[in-house]
Amino acid sequence: MSGGSEVREPVVHVAFDPDRAAGSLVSDVRRGLGQSPRTLPPKWLYDDRGSELFDQITRLPEYYPTEAERRLLAEHAADIVRLTGAPTVVELGSGTSDKTRTLLDAFTAGGQLRRFVPVDVSEATLRSAADMLSQRYPGLQVEALVGDFTLHLSHLPQDDRKVVAFLGGTIGNFYVEERAAFLGALADSLAPGDWLLLGTDVVKDADRLVAAYNDSQGVTAEFVTNSLAVLNRELDADFDLDAFRYVPLWDPAMERMDLRLRAEVPQQVTLPGADLVIDLAAGEEIRVEISSKFRPEGLRAELAAAGFAADHLWTDGDYALTLARRTD
Ligand code: AVJ
Repeated sequence: MSGGSEVREPVVHVAFDPDRAAGSLVSDVRRGLGQSPRTLPPKWLYDDRGSELFDQITRLPEYYPTEAERRLLAEHAADIVRLTGAPTVVELGSGTSDKTRTLLDAFTAGGQLRRFVPVDVSEATLRSAADMLSQRYPGLQVEALVGDFTLHLSHLPQDDRKVVAFLGGTIGNFYVEERAAFLGALADSLAPGDWLLLGTDVVKDADRLVAAYNDSQGVTAEFVTNSLAVLNRELDADFDLDAFRYVPLWDPAMERMDLRLRAEVPQQVTLPGADLVIDLAAGEEIRVEISSKFRPEGLRAELAAAGFAADHLWTDGDYALTLARRTD
């Protein structure tokens, strides 16, 4: 490692344009609420309140993925560092969570890490994370990127061998076509020999899956319902949060959780910021998030189709961590 152990000032690049983001909320909402079932795009779940609630979810006893991933990362850290030998680590959707530290503890122990590039849509979150990480890992250059990882992959550094970590099972939020597009764009932004470290939840017994999204403390229900509060605030909408019931469904055909809000009574909702009025029938559902679960064979095939060789896949049966190499 160069530069000894002095604390290095973090650098923050901004690729994200908040005005364009506001425009994309309007178009996402107009398109999504016109579909059947009506659908909201999940990226709008993570405002400050949503991020805080998600943080609480990761500590719920029923929500096994966070701890399973942490264990797999810790257990295979040395292998990951030895196999990749990369001086730059990128983390997509880094947020505030502890998984970044598990990742960086592993890489700094290996001694090759020079630069860390956290990517997140929230500038405030990134700035405080960047300061904290610079202090915690002296000698590490933190080069944060404020951006949307579905749009700004071309802003990733191009000058070094890198590992792109996409953890937490977040890839499960994408629809099948979006997933293929994302993996293809990611492959395009990488050089042959670069790596993807991907965390995915695994298909399992429906009861355990539903329990993970239907916690007894109601935190997940509050997290999902918060999406309506985001629309009330951002689009001046008038959703009555108490008029909806949270419904977590397991879709066995698509092998995904389908998290919905059901209108308990018929109601009309006005969203002036999106120039939209919708009439919801009694029992009508709005899909707020999907969370796809994977089988190792299917995942390998999807990665191969996008230009990645899944050289290593570690799993405890509940969750999987895949280290995939960008092929030529
Ligand atoms: C952050 C997208 C991985 O799908 O499990 C948790 C989000 N939603 N509980 C997931 C979530 C409800 C989570 N991801």
